[in-house]
Amino acid sequence: MKKHVNGTELFVQDQGQGTPVILLHGFPLDHRMWQSQMETLSANYRVLAPDFRGMGQSDLPVTPMSLTQYAQDILALMDELRIEKATLGGFSMGGYVAFALLRLAPERFSALILANTRPEPDGQEGRKNRLNMAVSLYDKGAAAARDAMLPKLVTEATHLEQPQLIDSLKVIMDSMPAEGLVHASIAMAFRADSVDLLPTISVPTLVIAGEQDAIAPPDVMKSMADQIPGANFHVIPSASHLTPMEKPEAFNELVLAFLKEASLKSMDYRSPS
Ligand code: MLT
Repeated sequence: MKKHVNGTELFVQDQGQGTPVILLHGFPLDHRMWQSQMETLSANYRVLAPDFRGMGQSDLPVTPMSLTQYAQDILALMDELRIEKATLGGFSMGGYVAFALLRLAPERFSALILANTRPEPDGQEGRKNRLNMAVSLYDKGAAAARDAMLPKLVTEATHLEQPQLIDSLKVIMDSMPAEGLVHASIAMAFRADSVDLLPTISVPTLVIAGEQDAIAPPDVMKSMADQIPGANFHVIPSASHLTPMEKPEAFNELVLAFLKEASLKSMDYRSPS
């Protein structure tokens, strides 16, 4: 469904009942990357997977975007859906938005899942690549992002063994509005450094890496997890960047165990002594 918030129309898939779990997608993707999590987790939780402004079915931005603005959209969506507090999950770009959300409104989140993401901003080279990507998106359309990203999202073995997964990924990426991806590339190029935020995170946190992820390598993710008090860190074997789609069973198992433990912890917290 679409919701009118912050002067724009945002799409959100909202399924299941119970404690809300908000899942934020990566680039150049949309809520469809969470299909397996949506099916599995919605048996016990209310799972919400929005499309960022300008991506998937959400309307295009009319002014430049920042990660803070994507985060403000999510907060406005939570207000509109009357969700006071949720578990927050962010994959890659979704992780950058999760950091922005924790900076803006940490009191709105009771647990955190960070998958294949990193807290540091881009260096000079990375920023240059993003701006070149923005130019290619104008020239070639969404195919520019698809061609650059597809080889990095899953392992070579998965490319060979799971042609249907590759086809569904192409369908998602080819349907992305190029202009929305330009906004996202520029926003990511100028994102804030979130390293200082890590020691201030005070909710149960699960960090998931892919063994062969070159975009957010396991050692970078391990050092991120080490800086978040009490965070659980897991590496999914034989997986590259897109762990929720490439290894959905392993991913969902980690998330379900974490959500169960996080809810027990919050019950302990609430029970009178
Ligand atoms: C993503 O998967 O969202 C992107 O790899 C993020 C990035 O390019 O930094």
